[in-house]
Amino acid sequence: MVYLKLETFHLERFQSKWEHIVNYNLAESGVQPFKLEELLGDREKIEIMNRFLGYVQTNGSNSLRANISELYQDACEENVLVTNGSSEANFLVAWSLLEKGDEALVMLPNYMQIWGLAKMMGGTPVPLWLRENEGWRIDLEEIKEKVSHKTKLIALCNPNNPTGAIFDQATLRGVCEIAEDFGSWVLCDEVYRGAELEGNKTPSVWGIYERAITSSGLSKAYGLPGLRIGWIMAQEDVINRLWSYHDYTTICTSAMSDYVANLALEAENRERILSRTRRILARNWPILERWFDNHSEIFRYTKPKAGAVSFARYNLDINSTLIAEKLAREKSVLIVPGDHFLMDGYVRIGYGSNVELLEKSLVLVGEFFKSLQGK
Ligand SMILES: Cc1ncc(COP(=O)(O)O)c(C=O)c1O
Repeated sequence: MVYLKLETFHLERFQSKWEHIVNYNLAESGVQPFKLEELLGDREKIEIMNRFLGYVQTNGSNSLRANISELYQDACEENVLVTNGSSEANFLVAWSLLEKGDEALVMLPNYMQIWGLAKMMGGTPVPLWLRENEGWRIDLEEIKEKVSHKTKLIALCNPNNPTGAIFDQATLRGVCEIAEDFGSWVLCDEVYRGAELEGNKTPSVWGIYERAITSSGLSKAYGLPGLRIGWIMAQEDVINRLWSYHDYTTICTSAMSDYVANLALEAENRERILSRTRRILARNWPILERWFDNHSEIFRYTKPKAGAVSFARYNLDINSTLIAEKLAREKSVLIVPGDHFLMDGYVRIGYGSNVELLEKSLVLVGEFFKSLQGK
């Protein structure tokens, strides 16, 4: 039985309330989005104007699914279901798997969607903590202690939001081996994959285990959140099952988005887009790092390995939600309180915007925290 009793998604509520009101938004976890103009050449501009605004193939057009499958080793279009954002992808997986009495082991801190959905489906989310003093790593021993025959799902986020940690292939294998012993599914949200600050692309959980499911999309590493394109990668029978759940949510994505996403994921464009993301991260991180170092009496941080966010601990005895709301009201700057990741005492600061906005916002955030300190 599905309960669907709403559990407020505090991060999304907070951002929805403030992000279009404030002058400086550092709550965004992706890089500065593209303009449509930057993606379309002359031929594509004509093509898009001549497209019928009909329904697209409801699991995603064949060419888009083929392009998505190329992001994964030994995958084909039958392994892909296109969704409206990775948030719909996560929703469909949770809805199709979780029932009353089930447990979902959920990596924390994390984007809290699966946490809330597990409760809404009548299940119980169980925390798997990443700890800053251990380098935000996955503790396989903790998973072994907490997993049981009630564990329907183990939910990971790699690269992790909000810490920017990356988990390697051996760790993912370790998680899947534990899951296999209990017949549990592993869902890995990989929407930040491709947004690494340095080094290789984050490994995917795809292909490691029969019951491993990947959710992802174009919102973060690709800088295209307004397209609302996400996807699920799984074994073909799982995809077919999830497709029938998709019939009840949004049927299909928009025809325009399918077209633009397809273009963005063509091999050449894809590399150009991901290089731009990495350039933005490499350019902006030193700005935030310098700012942290200049405020080291207040903030402690671990350098993120991926994603346009940093999760920093602050040295003040004030609740993080109070801080973020006061900052938005008084300085018109939006950051995310650690409360939204069940970790009060931290704030998440996004650094993927343009340099001018980032620098101006950080001056304001610095002034604000100093005033809280009573300086
Ligand atoms: C880990 C994670 N998954 C999913 C989402 C939702 O993204 P989308 O725009 O693809 O629905 C977010 C948004 O911040 C996120 O951080």
